[in-house]
Amino acid sequence: MSFQKNAIGIFDSGFGGLTVFKAIAEQLPNYNYIYLGDNARSPYGDHSFETVYQYTLECVEWLFAQGCPVVILACNTASAKALRNIQQLDLPKKYPLNKVLGVIRPTAEVIGNMSNSKSIGVLGTRGTVRSESYLIEIHKFFPETNVYQQSCPMWVPLIENGEYENEGADYFVKKYLNELLSQSDQIDTILLACTHYPLLVPKIKEQLNSNINIVAQGDIVAASLVDYLKRHSEIDTRLGQQSEQAFYTTGDAEAFDQHASVFLERSIISTKVKV
Ligand code: DGL
Repeated sequence: MSFQKNAIGIFDSGFGGLTVFKAIAEQLPNYNYIYLGDNARSPYGDHSFETVYQYTLECVEWLFAQGCPVVILACNTASAKALRNIQQLDLPKKYPLNKVLGVIRPTAEVIGNMSNSKSIGVLGTRGTVRSESYLIEIHKFFPETNVYQQSCPMWVPLIENGEYENEGADYFVKKYLNELLSQSDQIDTILLACTHYPLLVPKIKEQLNSNINIVAQGDIVAASLVDYLKRHSEIDTRLGQQSEQAFYTTGDAEAFDQHASVFLERSIISTKVKV
């Protein structure tokens, strides 16, 4: 098995992080990438803090072992429940030269600027919503903003099982959007705070007035990584730039290839690994 050396590691519980990977690879096409989806243990959304932390750490350590100096947690649930522990406990002790970055802070830094009414709806997994990470982080940068949250526990299973374009998805798309919008009629911006959810955008748009802004995180996280690498030459100089990309899953490789090819609109061949 040949692994890309000095790659940017991108991790998600499953396929969702591919929406972030796609945006990052568009903005930084020369870098090498290793994507790891923990499909065998996905979804993470309802798992406890300890379980998400343990699974995420195992995947991060696997990516470090492949030679990635930096790993992006392209997963809100992992960013909400595991990032702080990994940054504060594991990196200083075991990997002082490596970095792990999440998706919540870069999103919180800019989302307040996207709402005129200063009323933002946040859709995420139960884990992300219960962590209140978005409430806390958005208020740090935009204290005057009202943040309304709604968990959408059926959305990730619909996506992971390839049902997101089918009729059955309509019911759950409508249900959670109604539950969010019933919290305030001032919401003019809805953040898709789960990296899987961009796959449901066509169905989400069908249910919403066109004056509501739907925000996916891919471009936000990609822009933040571009900026990060400019400011951190100690990481940037350790990254290879041969435009190599490799995809790994803890689940079934054939199933991963099928779904990933739809996400990325090109053919993908992944390898199954044990973390
Ligand atoms: N894509 C993840 C997130 O952004 C996945 C959620 C899950 O595995 O439940 O939260």
